Amino acid sequence: MDGHSSCGKSTMAKKLAAATGYTYIDTGAMYRAVTLFCLENGLIGSNGIDTVELERCLPDLNISFGKDDEGRQFTMLNGRNVEREIRGMEVSSNVSPVSALPFVREAMVAQQRIMGGKGAVIMDGRDIGTTVFPDAELKIFVTARDDVRAQRRYDEMRQKGDNPVYEDVLENVRQRDYIDSHRDVSPLRQAPDAIVLDNSDMTMAEQDEWLMRHYLAAVKE
Ligand code: DC
Repeated sequence: MDGHSSCGKSTMAKKLAAATGYTYIDTGAMYRAVTLFCLENGLIGSNGIDTVELERCLPDLNISFGKDDEGRQFTMLNGRNVEREIRGMEVSSNVSPVSALPFVREAMVAQQRIMGGKGAVIMDGRDIGTTVFPDAELKIFVTARDDVRAQRRYDEMRQKGDNPVYEDVLENVRQRDYIDSHRDVSPLRQAPDAIVLDNSDMTMAEQDEWLMRHYLAAVKE
């Protein structure tokens, strides 16, 4: 599943994984974890990203996923649960330039191919259908209007106890769309054989039904 930021890809992917027993892999969380590492280690400053130091440290970064008692997945960076930190505004504001670095993409894509190599995975991101698994059995490209996506991200952050400014969230969504779609390596674009879902005006129930219908059609083939 690929698509724009905050359009509900991960909600869809998690639900489908729960319904099918497949493993869910959130590739955006991996780029967010790298970004958190940069922020915590002073690798992002007014002059941009210290790519020399990041490239040196990257092989030692251990990004993995765990599950809490209620079955909710969380992201680990070098053995530490960083799920909350990677969803905050600071990481969101810096993740697109980090994820545009070719050596970062190369390292993450290699890990994603290992994680998904045995099949039975639902992976969401920006380049899964185009680069990571171009032969995936089902490719879905999810999108929604940017104001709808900003509102969703805003509501989600408030629910988690943060107090963001809606205009900042909207600006961040637009900026990420731009950077994600214009970078040189694996830009966000729809794979030619992806099915497009614009869920701006869909209810959750309609979306669930849409997803299950396409999943069942794909496994029947
Ligand atoms: O899905 P997300 O918003 O958590 O992703 C965070 C950022 O990571 C997003 O701005 C683009 C980048 N990303 C990427 O470049 N490739 C992926 N496969 C997944 C995410």
